[in-house]
Amino acid sequence: MDKTFEESLGFRHACKVFDESKKIAQKDLEFILDAGRRAPSSFGMEAWKFLVITNEELKAKLRPLCWNQAQITSCSHLVVVLAGIESVKVESGIPKKRFARREMPEDKLDFYLNLYAEHLKETLSSDENIYAWTAKQTAFAAANMMSAAAVLGIDSCPIEGYDKDALEALLDLDKSKFRLSMLLPLGYRINEQSSQQRLSFDEVVEYIN
Ligand SMILES: Cc1cc2nc3c(=O)[nH]c(=O)nc-3n(C[C@H](O)[C@H](O)[C@H](O)COP(=O)(O)O)c2cc1C
Repeated sequence: MDKTFEESLGFRHACKVFDESKKIAQKDLEFILDAGRRAPSSFGMEAWKFLVITNEELKAKLRPLCWNQAQITSCSHLVVVLAGIESVKVESGIPKKRFARREMPEDKLDFYLNLYAEHLKETLSSDENIYAWTAKQTAFAAANMMSAAAVLGIDSCPIEGYDKDALEALLDLDKSKFRLSMLLPLGYRINEQSSQQRLSFDEVVEYIN
């Protein structure tokens, strides 16, 4: 039975080791990936891509580049979350295509495209700035995937502890198109869940009346 949202919040934790004998069913995997696909993105650009790795040899090659973390090889599926670079550039023609999905007249399309280019002038001025902007947004996709996984009783661990340049090279990424944002191993826990340490509600929330 699927967990309620409340239950899934308590279930999700940064799983350190997965049970290698348990594999995620394809339909569950697709549910999780689809939750990532449906995440919100700035101006609706969807500047992300998810690579799904199951190849054990490749996982073994990746692990030493990820602080030797056991999640990389023990997981059922390793999702590599990529941040888009080229696709958000006006000259790629893709932002126009993204806006055009809303079926608007040409003058309105031009208006949005100008607004986009103007508002994001600084952001779009270098690939590094673009990466900072799009990588931030991939966190929403990753969070959606972790939440969707938890609803199904599937574990995850967001991973940023790695040598980014080395991983991008090993994965043969064309960095003008996509760069590495996060790793998201998925699978089933083998150990008991760690206790959730969080600041109190009042430390985190401040009302401004
Ligand atoms: C961006 C990001 C990067 C993280 N990188 C790692 C990592 O490399 N290895 C790891 O075991 N956990 C990693 N974590 C998990 C956090 O350490 C974990 O979420 C936090 O300590 C709270 O624990 P909990 O999620 O189990 O409640 C990362 C979390 C985030 C959001």
